[in-house]
Amino acid sequence: MPHREKTLLRLVTTGSVDDGKSTLIGRLLYETSSIYEDQYEAIEKTSLRKGLKQVELAYLLDGLAAEREQGITIDVAYRYFETSERKIIIADTPGHIQYTRNMITGASKSDCALILIDARNGVLTQSKRHGFLLSLLRIPHLIVAVNKMDLVDYSEEAYLRIVDEYTEYSRKLAISDVSFIPVSALKGDNVVKKSLNMPWYNGSSLLYHLENVNIASDRNLVDFRFPVQYVIRPHQNFRGFAGRIASGTIVPGEEIVVLPSRKSAVVKSITTYDGELTEAFASQSVVLTFDREIDVSRGDLIVRKNNIPQSAKSIDATICWMHDSSSKDRTFCIMKHGTRYIKTYIKRIIYKIDVNTLHRSYSDSFSLNDIGRVEIEAVSPVFFDPFVLNKATGSFILIDPVTNDTIAAGMIRGSVIDSTAISEEAHQQVVHISEASMKNVVWKSPSVSREMHERQNLHKAAVLWFTGYSGAGKSAIAENLEKRLFSNGCQTMLLDGDNLRHGLCSNLGFSREDRQENIRRAAEVAKLFFEAGNIALCTFISPFITDRQSARKLFPAGSFFEIFVKCPLETCINRDPKGLYKKAQAGEIKEFTGISSPYEPPETPEIIIESDSKSITESADYLIQILREHKILT
Ligand code: ADX
Repeated sequence: MPHREKTLLRLVTTGSVDDGKSTLIGRLLYETSSIYEDQYEAIEKTSLRKGLKQVELAYLLDGLAAEREQGITIDVAYRYFETSERKIIIADTPGHIQYTRNMITGASKSDCALILIDARNGVLTQSKRHGFLLSLLRIPHLIVAVNKMDLVDYSEEAYLRIVDEYTEYSRKLAISDVSFIPVSALKGDNVVKKSLNMPWYNGSSLLYHLENVNIASDRNLVDFRFPVQYVIRPHQNFRGFAGRIASGTIVPGEEIVVLPSRKSAVVKSITTYDGELTEAFASQSVVLTFDREIDVSRGDLIVRKNNIPQSAKSIDATICWMHDSSSKDRTFCIMKHGTRYIKTYIKRIIYKIDVNTLHRSYSDSFSLNDIGRVEIEAVSPVFFDPFVLNKATGSFILIDPVTNDTIAAGMIRGSVIDSTAISEEAHQQVVHISEASMKNVVWKSPSVSREMHERQNLHKAAVLWFTGYSGAGKSAIAENLEKRLFSNGCQTMLLDGDNLRHGLCSNLGFSREDRQENIRRAAEVAKLFFEAGNIALCTFISPFITDRQSARKLFPAGSFFEIFVKCPLETCINRDPKGLYKKAQAGEIKEFTGISSPYEPPETPEIIIESDSKSITESADYLIQILREHKILT
């Protein structure tokens, strides 16, 4: 068999003591033969001593004595195991609210999260809180293990009740892939092997799921970001810059820019301990050399010339407070962003979030485990990408300048001046062009107004903006809906990504900038149809939040409906209606959404349609109902 490198899955588990999390992980380790005989013997002895009837696998995890005595997990404990398919690192985090910071720490680097719910208790506030935190951290895959199925007689009904309730809740979250598995950690049902006790369950076991969840496309391989860790100069003739590629890829010959100096050079070589590379990508540690001598220091960020991150001194961020002291007691703190340290202070608290109810409230300070949105002011510009696009350059920690303690962990939403702008340069360019060309152009108000159209049409004008992966079902649902609206006498206009790209947008590709322009044109066209009283149905992948926000801004409140056609990427890849995913996976199509270009799910869309569980007709029915509720249709 040819040698195949195993992928690494970073899993975070969370749940409370009573959910049986430790037993579940213990079982995973035990049944995959990941523990030593003497470890097993030790827990066997402890179990006997405590008078237990069976070996308590949970003891395998209780590395910390304090934990065992109190019967709770108090820190983030990392476990490692390997199967024939994958290497898996489990960050085991405690579930109580007072350990929110531990959970944030454990989950921040994870590809996938596992939440345990006790089948007897149903969905508790705590499970919802965990879901929210995982969604905040943009964990792309969530597995909900409904545990202790043996104690509810393996009842399908009990399981489905939890599935329904959690599914309803998870619609509000930015997690695109949520799966459910009924398990009994104690008895081993559906943990490593499929259980015979639940013939009604057609899905796979937990281990199978962990081995197969597709994480390859979650990494940002588009934006090259290289924070410089060390400058290496062993002798006069060699000068290299060492670090770990935070995202993207690089090959020799590419032109780069060093930030903040903005000096440019061409990559001459990429060296590793094992020799030179012809290409390097995210998570590799390498040394870069350039074709010319330029000043580069530790803490600088190296990026590709045509793909520069945003920069701002005022940052809009979500932070989790991780220190015992209150934010009130602090004036300055140090932001560690990549390999750079910048002096900062918290200028304003915009709101605090109650992680149990998701309610926002105003507060003038943060204390341990608080989460909220803030404005941070830095003494020099921070070069960042929004967290939704790039976890590496979109996150930071705040540290105490004296003690070096971590005070808070943060996720950047954007710059404060205009958190919706893509980049200052792109923004300035657009403003510049439009100002020049608008000088001699006067807006002509139509003699037949939108209101006149609406009165005649007997419905209101609206824009239905469908966003989602290619293959999610946007066009199919919109077409069905349009037919139904048409047969009810409505004025409609369907603007479809593929069709616009044949004409109006045929000069555009799929780079970030081109997609931005594509959506700008599409939204402007939708606006013209909207003003003429139409219900405009727009189906575009429109993967970037900022582009969709710009589209939304063109329309009055209540007339723009962002419809997230939510479908797991795996399902879209399996459907692959145009055969494009296959080509993208083979590298024949570059910058393909979901494969080599990111998709940012909407944070608060008006409507979510889960197209893998709803039929096209059901989806269209649902939309008609919503249009009625909003009085677009009478
Ligand atoms: S968008 O990202 O700018 O909103 P749009 O919806 O107009 O995309 O076009 C997407 C369609 O173009 C897809 O349905 C697919 O058929 C096709 N396509 C071709 N190349 C790509 C690509 N690299 N990424 C995404 N879609 C692509």
